[in-house]
Amino acid sequence: MNYRHGFHAGNFADVLKHATLALALDRLAAKAAPFFCLDSHAGGARYDLVGEEAARTGEARDGILRVVDDALPPTALRPYLGVVRGLNEPGGPVLRYPGSPWIMRRMTRPQDRMLFCEMHPDALRELRRATAGDRRIELRQADGWTALKSDLPPAERRGLVLVDPPFEARDEHARLARGLRHAHRRFATGVLLGWYPVKTRAPVDAMLADIVASGMRRVAVVELLVRAPAREDDEAPRLAGCGLVVVNPPWTMMDTLAAAMPWLAQRLVREPGGGHRIETLVGE
Ligand SMILES: C[S@@+](CC[C@H](N)C(=O)[O-])C[C@H]1O[C@@H](n2cnc3c(N)ncnc32)[C@H](O)[C@@H]1O
Repeated sequence: MNYRHGFHAGNFADVLKHATLALALDRLAAKAAPFFCLDSHAGGARYDLVGEEAARTGEARDGILRVVDDALPPTALRPYLGVVRGLNEPGGPVLRYPGSPWIMRRMTRPQDRMLFCEMHPDALRELRRATAGDRRIELRQADGWTALKSDLPPAERRGLVLVDPPFEARDEHARLARGLRHAHRRFATGVLLGWYPVKTRAPVDAMLADIVASGMRRVAVVELLVRAPAREDDEAPRLAGCGLVVVNPPWTMMDTLAAAMPWLAQRLVREPGGGHRIETLVGE
């Protein structure tokens, strides 16, 4: 377990993931009925973009810092950018960046509830400090894959599950498909978001085919590639992009997101062969 999200905070992958997450939460919060959020691989609450980890890679420069200063961002990005701005001095530079638990915390109401699972003691310590006193939140040093079975369905019968593993293991795409299937079996009406990296195409396409074959309905996919994926025989492929599987997207969410994707791609694509994709994989 070596992955530390601090090195990647605010990069292009976080922008796509967190914009999608915030938009889904915004739509869930449009109804007064309480909802539940499960962040199975939570990471930290807040990242210091000028701190040692983030500054060493500078990934936010090609991510959040390319989109945050636009005077008229697309509608889909407004909930996300609102949370990022809210962590920083009004009108000042973006020095701090939210993790997914912080976005959930900010975009939920007093009647909502959250469960954050995280294994790394450092991330957990920071998360505990940042969310202390918020009685809506349960923090657990536990395996997030297990929580997808043990903690679903929630009593609220409404909610969102983010599955965002570190992708350190070779079979993590297949594992993500399995995790989403387990979550869906128990919570068929929940909004499920599964994040995945794209280095080469084959494992991603196999995962998406698996999800289609699983029988889940209402499944969409959104991807942002900053460069062309590597060939399958590349021994050290670079990260070319990322995507999210979205099961049960709230009403109009994917259309709103689709309208923002050309704008995002224009700012975040780095090399020829990059671009975006957003489509329904399985309909109603
Ligand atoms: C990609 S990061 C999460 C980033 C976070 N969701 C966000 O968007 O801000 C993955 C996290 O999963 C944690 N982790 C690794 N294995 C885990 C497991 N089995 N259960 C829960 N967390 C795990 C890692 O320590 C790491 O903090």
